Amino acid sequence: MTNRKSVYVTRAIPVETIEELRAHFDVEVNNDDRALSRAELQERLRGRDAAITLLTDTVDGEVLDAAGPQLRIVANYAVGFNNFDVAAATRRGVVLTNTPGVLDDATATHTMTLLLATARRIAEADTFVRQGCWQGWAPMTFVGLDVDRRTLGIAGLGRIGRNVAKKAHAFDMNIIYSDVRPDRAFEAAFGARHVDKDTLLREADFLTLHVPLLPETHHYIGAAELRAMKTTAVLINASRGPVVDEVALVEALRSGEIWGAGLDVFEDEPKLAPGLAELRNVVIVPHIASATPATRIAMGRIAAGNIIKVLNGRAPETCVNPDVLRKTA
Ligand code: DGY
Repeated sequence: MTNRKSVYVTRAIPVETIEELRAHFDVEVNNDDRALSRAELQERLRGRDAAITLLTDTVDGEVLDAAGPQLRIVANYAVGFNNFDVAAATRRGVVLTNTPGVLDDATATHTMTLLLATARRIAEADTFVRQGCWQGWAPMTFVGLDVDRRTLGIAGLGRIGRNVAKKAHAFDMNIIYSDVRPDRAFEAAFGARHVDKDTLLREADFLTLHVPLLPETHHYIGAAELRAMKTTAVLINASRGPVVDEVALVEALRSGEIWGAGLDVFEDEPKLAPGLAELRNVVIVPHIASATPATRIAMGRIAAGNIIKVLNGRAPETCVNPDVLRKTA
């Protein structure tokens, strides 16, 4: 038996993070290369003082109760935290944290990668060459879309949305955005225009989604929105899958209502909506927007730092339920 506090990590993350935690606490890691089931999560969290969780771990009242009243903090290894029941944790005095800021560059770069790959039909062309179909240069092979000087619509001007604008600026893209809060300084810096959702849908050649997943943003893009977009438009989603009605998207891509899509996230990961994988005008990758070594390490540093602080009676760097700190202050 040891008096050290106990931390559980629900899946292997960079060794630097685990070492940092081990310097202070007893740490156990799920080293199986799979997400824990709900029953396993409840069982593994029992008696822990802290946990690092992933976006695939639903942390609600039942899970928190199974962990026990000694649990002080759950640190999500992600910036998104729609897997948390924030109210349930606040009621139980459990601090919840995320990892904002450190993955903006990686996610914005990935967004531009999806945009470019979709516009220039990279995945389709790669498959064509690998399958031995290429007969030599031809003027009309894999003609895609122009990106330079086209209109980029950004839904949600948070850190990542802004970072995408910065990168798109290098392509001389004309930037329009929708957000509850217009940002005049951003508009001046990027020649951007704040528009309503209808205008965003109607004018964007490329529409990229950077809204958090909330009840109000569930199916932010559905059949009606897809109909409102240009037939030459491309939809990019590296936010959360349920922000898009994936069944409606399959239909829109199939019928030519929009030109293409680049998707990092899906409604029911890892499952895809029926028909999506058969479409040629969509680039699909497995939720990897933040998957770079430096980003993964930085995410771990924030999560571990938050746990060290909270278990030593201090405030965490990035709290998503600050009410809990006021309650315990
Ligand atoms: C996040 O951080 O929310 C991403 O989806 C995974 O890095």
